[in-house]
Amino acid sequence: MKPLSLLRAPRTLFARLIVILCVGLALAQALSFWVTMKERDQATINLMVGYIEREVVSSVALLDRMPAAERPQWLPRLARRSYDFILGPGITGNPPDARLSALVAASITEGIGTSYPLTVNAVPGDRERMQVHLQLSDGSPLTIDLRPMPGPPMSGWLPLALILQLAVLASCCWLAVRLATEPLHRLAQAADALGPSLKSERLPETGPSEVVRAARAFNAMQDRIALFIAERIQVLAAISHDLQTPITRMRLRLDTAEDSPQQARMLQDLQEMENLVKEGVAYARTLHGAAEVPCRIDPDALFDSLVFDYADAGQDVSLQGRIGTPLVTRPQALRRILGNLIDNALKFSGAAEIVVSPFENGQATISILDRGPGIPSDLLESVFEPFYRVESSRNRGTGGTGLGLAIARQLSLAMDADLSLQNRPDGGLEARLTLKNLE
Ligand SMILES: Nc1ncnc2c1ncn2[C@@H]1O[C@H](COP(=O)(O)OP(=O)(O)OP(=O)(O)O)[C@@H](O)[C@H]1O
Ligand SMILES: [Mg+2]
Repeated sequence: MKPLSLLRAPRTLFARLIVILCVGLALAQALSFWVTMKERDQATINLMVGYIEREVVSSVALLDRMPAAERPQWLPRLARRSYDFILGPGITGNPPDARLSALVAASITEGIGTSYPLTVNAVPGDRERMQVHLQLSDGSPLTIDLRPMPGPPMSGWLPLALILQLAVLASCCWLAVRLATEPLHRLAQAADALGPSLKSERLPETGPSEVVRAARAFNAMQDRIALFIAERIQVLAAISHDLQTPITRMRLRLDTAEDSPQQARMLQDLQEMENLVKEGVAYARTLHGAAEVPCRIDPDALFDSLVFDYADAGQDVSLQGRIGTPLVTRPQALRRILGNLIDNALKFSGAAEIVVSPFENGQATISILDRGPGIPSDLLESVFEPFYRVESSRNRGTGGTGLGLAIARQLSLAMDADLSLQNRPDGGLEARLTLKNLE
C-alpha cells in the first residue's frame, strides 16, 4: 500500500471542510499556547533573576558591615526560598553549565563582582544547584548556596480549558460547514426529484444571499424546461392535428381510386403515418406528465378485461396469478404500459403470457413473457430510447415507430414503478413491471 493512499482526502465536501478547519484551528491553538507558555517562562525567569540580584547584593553588604560574631544569627533571616548563605568556603566544583544557573551567576557577578572577587561552581545532584564563593572585607569566606527555580508548573485546569476551547471551536466549525453544505444537498435533492413530470418541488428562496440566488436560478431553470417542453408538445400537437386532414383527404381519394397494388401500399403507408403521428403525441404527453390522478382499482379486473380485449381480437394472450388486493394506481397509464408490452410480445412472437404475483414487501410484479427472438443483452436498455428499434426488427412485418417502450418507461417512472427487460434462459423476452401502491 502506498503511504499516500492513507492520506486520501475524505469524499464529502462536509468532511473535507471539517478536516481543514479543525486541523487548522487546532494547530493555530497549539502554536499560540506554546508561544504563551514560552513567554511566561521567560518573564518569570527574568523576574526571579532580578530579584535574586537585588536581594543578594543588599544581604552581602549587610553581612559585610556587621561584626563577625553577629553574622551566624542573621543567616536564617537573610535566607530565601531559592538561596541561603553559608559562612565558610562551601563545596568547590566545575563552573555551572545549566542555562538558568549561568543566568543567575552572571547577574550576581554583575551586582557584587566588582566589590568582591567571586568564583561560581555547580553542585552535582538531582536538582539544579550552584554555589557562589567570595571573601568579605575582613577576609572571612562567604558562600551563597543557590537552587534556581524554573517558572511555576502548569495549572491542572489548563489542559481542561484547552480541550473545552477546542470543543467549542469544533462545534462552531461543524455548524458553519453544515450551514454551507445543506443548500447543496437540497439542490441535489430537488434536481434528482425533477422527473419526467417536471413537477418537482420548488426550492425555497430563503436564507443567505448566495443560496437564494442559486435557488432562484434553479427554479427559473425548472420553469424554462417546462416551458420548452410545453412548446414542443404544442408544435407536435399542431402538426399532428394539421396532418390528420390531408391524411384523411388522401385516404378518401385512394378509396375512390381504382383497386391496384399501388393503392394498397399507399393505404398502408398512410396508416403508418397516422400511427407515427398519434404515438408521437402520446409520447410527448407522457413526457409532460399529463398524468392522471391515482385511484383505487381492482387490478385483477383490469388484467382480466385487458386479456379479454385481446382474446376478442383473436390474439393469443394468457393470464396467470392474481394480485388479490385493491391497488391505488393510475389505471390508464398501467393499461397503456401493459398494452405496449403485450403488443411487443405479440408482434415479435405471436403470443403473450401475463404472470402476476401478489404484493411482497410492498411491491407487486407483473411479467409479460414471450417466446420470440429476445433482445441482444447489450441493447436491453437502448430499446427504451425513443425511436430505437433493434436492426433485425426493421421490416414490414414488425413495423412500428419505436416509441412503445419509451412511452411505457416514461409512464412507469411517473407512477414510481420499475420497468425492466430480460432475456429468458430458455428463449424469449420477459418484461417485468414492479408496482407500488401509490397510497
Ligand atoms: N418482446 C420483444 N421481443 C423482441 N424484441 C423486442 C420485444 N419488445 C421490444 N423489442 C425490440 O425493442 C424495440 C423497441 O420496442 P418498442 O416497443 O419501443 O418499439 P416498436 O415495438 O418497434 O414500435 P411501437 O411499439 O412504437 O409500435 C423493438 O423494435 C424491438 O426490436
Ligand atoms: Mg412496441
